[in-house]
Amino acid sequence: MLEFYYKMRITVLTGAGISAESGIPTFRGEDGLWEGFKAEELATPEAFERDPIKVWEWYCWRREVIGKVKPNEAHKILANWQGKYDLWIITQNVDGLHQKAGSKKVVELHGNIWRLRCSKCGRVWEDREACRKIPPRCSCGGLARPDVVWFGEALPEWALRKSYELAGASDIFIAVGTSGIVQPAANLPSIAKSFGAKIYVINPEPTIHSEIADIFIQDKASTGLRRLDEALQDKRPS
Ligand code: APR
Repeated sequence: MLEFYYKMRITVLTGAGISAESGIPTFRGEDGLWEGFKAEELATPEAFERDPIKVWEWYCWRREVIGKVKPNEAHKILANWQGKYDLWIITQNVDGLHQKAGSKKVVELHGNIWRLRCSKCGRVWEDREACRKIPPRCSCGGLARPDVVWFGEALPEWALRKSYELAGASDIFIAVGTSGIVQPAANLPSIAKSFGAKIYVINPEPTIHSEIADIFIQDKASTGLRRLDEALQDKRPS
């Protein structure tokens, strides 16, 4: 007999909070400052134009932190959900830790810190050694910048389109470790809700998303996802 097995469509939006337990400071937490600068002061095209070396020094510090850390239990639980659910991860993080944990279907809304983009010819490439000599340059001679989305910049078209598509077609939409302050990612849970998804929010403190959540799990990413993992197990067909 042909068995039809429906896999729940789950979309997970992640932010800096999911990587906090790996040791990466969040953007708006107390330890998110670098040499007294806020992310908003450095992650802009204007800052790069004014002082590319300062911006690169900040990114080199972040690369050093990110290069040393490992995915934590929260990243691993999500990687493990791939086989169980029809799962996509939409991340605002540029650290690549979801992929390092084994997740394949990841939409990087804000780019990836290990990639570079030429500000002259637009070429994109990965270079883990870019901080040996800053600012790095492209083979065309142009100044290379991190291939990440800065304040005031548009998001990659494919990533944005895919995110809206996923928000509109999820049974469950989960936001983990994001303050919900930065648009357009911050809109995704309410879009998902308007299309009928059940909204879960996992965060140690209330956020704009917890206000619209069907279920708010006020917890860290690792323990919150472990609790949700157990709760969802009970809903799967045996
Ligand atoms: N587990 C889960 N969430 C946590 C944890 C933890 N262990 N520790 C902190 N948090 C929560 C904080 O309470 C906060 O709500 O993670 C959230 C992090 O918020 P932000 O620092 O604002 O990070 P994020 O939402 O990812 O920022 C969005 O802003 O600066 C830009 O481009 C950058 O992608 C970033 C975007």
